[in-house]
Amino acid sequence: MRLADLQGRPLRDLRISVTDRCNFRCVYCMPQQIFGVDYPFLKREELLTFEEIDRLARIFVGLGVEKIRLTGGEPLMRRDIEILLEMLSCIPGIDLTMTTNGSLLPHKARGLRDAGLKRISVSLDSLDHEIFATMNGLEYPVERVLEGIEAAHAVGLMPIKINMVVKRGVNDGSILSMASRFRNRGHILRFIEYMDVGNTNGWRLDEVVPASAIINIVDDQYPLEAIEPNYYGEVVRRYRYKDGRGEIGVVASVTQPFCADCTRARLSAKGTLYTCLFASSATDLRELLRSGATDDEIAAIVASVWSQRSDRYSEIRSPDTARMPKVEMSYIGG
Ligand code: GTP
Ligand code: 5AD
Ligand code: SF4
Ligand code: SF4
Repeated sequence: MRLADLQGRPLRDLRISVTDRCNFRCVYCMPQQIFGVDYPFLKREELLTFEEIDRLARIFVGLGVEKIRLTGGEPLMRRDIEILLEMLSCIPGIDLTMTTNGSLLPHKARGLRDAGLKRISVSLDSLDHEIFATMNGLEYPVERVLEGIEAAHAVGLMPIKINMVVKRGVNDGSILSMASRFRNRGHILRFIEYMDVGNTNGWRLDEVVPASAIINIVDDQYPLEAIEPNYYGEVVRRYRYKDGRGEIGVVASVTQPFCADCTRARLSAKGTLYTCLFASSATDLRELLRSGATDDEIAAIVASVWSQRSDRYSEIRSPDTARMPKVEMSYIGG
């Protein structure tokens, strides 16, 4: 029998954060400083080892997980990440992917591919240097990320998905230029509504550009038509260009929440299990791993957590929930 939560949702995806560190400071995720102090990053011994991650991944696969996504922080900041990929790519039948800011891809893409990564998602919020600098918080040059995308393309990490978080008044003027740039290249651009994740980004509803408005902007220039999801629980709503030049997508988690078929579990870099991107509490699996629990015992605990899950944050979002304490995105990835 397949594991299901209280709303009948199966466990299909595991998103594993391999580090809480990042070389960017995106305004919507990890603003430069929180309350005037630097980020309290995890110490090395607090992080799960690759052996621990691999063991947990296999336990999750035994419970129904079919897709594993490595995230961060910035996953390519974790030293020797290729070794972890080699381990995970030996698990039969899983879709293994990664979300990265792309900055380290120019020299890492080949090694990732050789280690068993098949495809990749790259975050990129604008092609305009000034706007990109504002979004990433560090004046990081956009050319470097574009080189990273090219490097991934050159070694066949395909399809490449480009994630653009849209924040009103900051990068909404870049929607069309991003669409133009990635059309016709086989890359899939996805526009993401700015979300109230974490406690530090000062989110306001009026800074969210609704997915419907984003689609209208693109459709005016390049006519679009909606297409069917690739699989049950896909977060992205897909559209194709009517002229056949590719597809785009929107992640409308604020204006059209998709909790009803959310199949995602999230493992933080220190081994805590979250069942929602907006959760305020989690289950410590590292303690179990390090205190000698067997695979069956750990599997039973994960199954019990999942079967009691009732998360539907995006469906109940309100000004009050937006102020609730939540895990930071940089601890559990996007
Ligand atoms: P593939 O279909 O496997 O390529 O993955 P995906 O479409 O799930 O892509 P990805 O994991 O890159 O998700 C895109 C973005 O959607 C993330 O960076 C988040 O911003 C957002 N997102 C993903 N999962 C969730 C979720 O469970 N809840 C909410 N609210 N947002 C999510
Ligand atoms: N709103 C929407 N998406 C976010 N991400 C991080 N913070 C936010 C936010 N506040 C997602 C982006 C980014 C990925 C790493 O996490 O999609 O590409
Ligand atoms: Fe780093 Fe990604 Fe967060 Fe930006 S969104 S600060 S790249 S973890
Ligand atoms: Fe899943 Fe939580 Fe996102 Fe809803 S808000 S889709 S339950 S992660």
